[in-house]
Amino acid sequence: MAKITLKINGQEVQVEEGATILEAANQAGVYIPTLCYHPYLPLEEACRICVVEDVRRGWSTLVAACVFPVREGMVIETDSEKVQESRKTILELLLSDHPNECMTCQATGQCELQDLAYRYRVRPDIYTGERHRLPVDSDPNPYLHIDMNKCVLCRRCIRACHEIQGADI
Ligand code: FES
Repeated sequence: MAKITLKINGQEVQVEEGATILEAANQAGVYIPTLCYHPYLPLEEACRICVVEDVRRGWSTLVAACVFPVREGMVIETDSEKVQESRKTILELLLSDHPNECMTCQATGQCELQDLAYRYRVRPDIYTGERHRLPVDSDPNPYLHIDMNKCVLCRRCIRACHEIQGADI
């Protein structure tokens, strides 16, 4: 398969044609945060936390790295001010209808969303959406703990049950 050469944060990277920006970044050891993405699942593009800056001559645009394919000569910035601001806003919107205690929740250290909230210094109350009051642990399965109040609709768990376990209802 043909090879594509692009630059990620100034570093030249060569990947197979058809690869996504996220795959190219992973190959180059460059971190891009993800929530809805999982390598074993079909692409969903639900959360947009993987945005990166696609820099072109005289202008740039934000694209979702998990779905956007690489192009020859592409210039990508994964940690620019524009990218950081965008990820922060995305997180603040995701948390707008989330339980208020995200920053101090008991999941400390075991929650990708909370890790990102700290990383991007989100202001948890900047947008005030409706706070849900759904029953916790309503699923009788003893191996699952489900709190839909904290769901960010990335659909990763749903797709894992459907695509990998074949265990959706
Ligand atoms: S990880 Fe790319 S859109 Fe969710």
